[in-house]
Amino acid sequence: MEQTVKIILDGRTYEFPIIEGTEGERAIDIRNLRKETGLITLDPSYPNTGSCKSSITFMDGERGILRYRGIPIEQLAEQSSFTETAYLLINGELPTRQELNRFSVMLNDHSLVHEDMRHFFENFPRRAHPMGILSSMVNALRAFYPELQERTEEEEIDITFTRLLSKVRTMAAMSYKISLGHRVVYPRYDLTYCANFLNMMFDSPVRPYVIDPDLVQALNVFWILHADHEQNCSTAAVRLVGSARVNLYAAISAGICALWGPLHGGANQAVVEMLMEIQAAGGELEPFLARAKDRDDPFRLMGFGHRVYKTYDPRAKIMKRTAHRVLAKQKRRDPLLEIALRLEEVALTDPYFVEHNLYPNVDFYSGIVLRAMGIPLNMFPVMFAIGRLPGWISQWKESVDDPGWRVHRPRQIYVGQGKRDYVPLEQRG
Ligand code: CMC
Repeated sequence: MEQTVKIILDGRTYEFPIIEGTEGERAIDIRNLRKETGLITLDPSYPNTGSCKSSITFMDGERGILRYRGIPIEQLAEQSSFTETAYLLINGELPTRQELNRFSVMLNDHSLVHEDMRHFFENFPRRAHPMGILSSMVNALRAFYPELQERTEEEEIDITFTRLLSKVRTMAAMSYKISLGHRVVYPRYDLTYCANFLNMMFDSPVRPYVIDPDLVQALNVFWILHADHEQNCSTAAVRLVGSARVNLYAAISAGICALWGPLHGGANQAVVEMLMEIQAAGGELEPFLARAKDRDDPFRLMGFGHRVYKTYDPRAKIMKRTAHRVLAKQKRRDPLLEIALRLEEVALTDPYFVEHNLYPNVDFYSGIVLRAMGIPLNMFPVMFAIGRLPGWISQWKESVDDPGWRVHRPRQIYVGQGKRDYVPLEQRG
């Protein structure tokens, strides 16, 4: 029997259905609330609001579960590759060998960037943050690659997805090379997606880059872990901007801007900066923990806490193992990893962090992995953005394919001045 929720207002009873997801989460369907009662709901920052139904990613923040299209993140990180995971997210199923080969060929075919785009790149100030450059360049893709009239809509969408996935990686490496004043390295047809990226970042005419399979594997894991995370801030931005039916490049560019923030995708950079600050201050943790607990101090322990996870982020567990594995293979120690391990240990037994359910999130150890690859600090959020791309694309696709699609337009409760008259300038005090 269908369950309902009753609202009693001015003596009248209104009933609203309870809907249930495949994993048992329940929600009150209030679609007709305003029409029937004249009321709206108020939920600032949306902690209680489901903005859509989705069949892409399932996460359970209480039990620390994350699955893409039903497959646990642990299995994907261990057995899949980033390109295969991207295919899974976008198409809903793991590819057959033939489908994967076709996808890889398409990624390869679309990996070059229009030569004219280089002039664009070259004119950004040298100190510009790569996230600002990336969001501008992604938006500019529409100008360089306008809609192809001779293609069907489906073919066009397919090409746009592949173009984005492939070119974003080339553009990210290109912006890094240009920021150094170095020659751009072109993609190679004989390398896999992750190996190609590392080669474009680090190959140089005076020091050929030797591809290390362990680093390629670590990059696959890093990008798989970032590939989607249901309705987070940047994905919600992609869906919201996309709901106005802008082109996909513009919607993704909005997602990159949202991801740039230190509370979201900028956190991996902020974590390493914080660990460096602790190191520079002599390694003592207490002053930093005290600041994080002080309500009057805006400082937060970066890489800790999450809107949904109230337990250990499953991605952080895998990232921590990956950090250990990569450093062990390189026979290197990173003093920042040692600080991070100590910090985690102390924070997890500190009553403030325990009471607030604050555990390490994906960003806590990811910076250590990126450092081991040689990725410069200001490129960390860009690495997150490349990883999140399949998620943004699949969520955009699901949103625009929804037959019940409408432009996203929240309401508000106005609490400003009542009606008053305009006062001419000469009469103001
Ligand atoms: N350090 C200290 N206190 C914290 C922290 C932290 N990292 N995170 C949350 N709190 C406290 C916060 O002060 C508040 O305390 P009180 O209730 O006493 O006022 C309480 O915990 C709840 O915090 P909130 O800000 O209401 O929680 P939120 O769900 O709005 O924010 C968050 C989630 C991730 C923005 C936040 O935990 C944070 O700022 N963490 C640090 C930044 C970070 O690591 N971000 C990466 C998130 S994971 C990657 C991604 O998906 O983008």
